[in-house]
Amino acid sequence: MITLKDKTFVKYLNSEIIQNTVHRLANQIYEDYYDKNPLFIGVLNGSFIFLSDLIRKYPGYLSVDFVKLKSYEGLQSSGNVKTILDFPDLIDKDIIIVEDIIDTGHTLKKLYKMINEHQVNSCKVVSLFFKPDAFSEDLTINYIGKNIPDKFIVGYGLDYDGLGRNLNDVYQLKT
Ligand code: IMP
Ligand code: MG
Repeated sequence: MITLKDKTFVKYLNSEIIQNTVHRLANQIYEDYYDKNPLFIGVLNGSFIFLSDLIRKYPGYLSVDFVKLKSYEGLQSSGNVKTILDFPDLIDKDIIIVEDIIDTGHTLKKLYKMINEHQVNSCKVVSLFFKPDAFSEDLTINYIGKNIPDKFIVGYGLDYDGLGRNLNDVYQLKT
C-alpha cells in the first residue's frame, strides 16, 4: 500500500507484467509498420514513461515527438481538453498516438481530430491502459495493452495530483 496526499492506493500490476505488455505492443505495432517509419506522438505528461519503454522495445525505424493536452483535475476527467504544445510537422506521416490511459476518450477524440486536420498518411492509436466502462467516444483504439476497470490508478507515468509517476508498479485507488 502507498499513500499519495490524502489517498491510499493498493498494488495492482507489477512492473514485470507491465514490461511484458509493452513488449507485446511494440511487436504488434512493428508487424504493421515494419516497412515504414512511423511517427510516435506521445501525449504528455502521462505517456512519457510508456513511450520511452515502447520505442526502445520497437525493433524498427521510427521517429518521436510530443503533444501536450490536459483534461484531468484531481480524480475526474473534466471533459474540457486544452492544447499546450504545438504540433510537429505531420504531413504524409504515419502517426501512432501514444497514450498512457484512455478513460472517457475525450482527450483522444480532440487530439485525433486535430491530427487528422493535417495531411497525414495514416493515424492509429496505442494505449497502455483502457477503461471500456468509462469510454464514451466512437473511436477505434488500435492497440490496447490492458483493459482495466473504471477505477483510478497511479504509477508508471500516471499521477494523482502530480505524484506517483515515478513508481515502477501500478497502484489502484483503495475504495
Ligand atoms: P480521458 O480524456 O477521459 O480519456 O482522459 C485521458 C487522460 O486522463 C489520460 O491521458 C490521463 O492523463 C488521465 N487519466 C485518466 N484515467 C486516469 C487514471 O486512472 N489515473 C491517472 N490519470 C488518468
Ligand atoms: Mg494522458
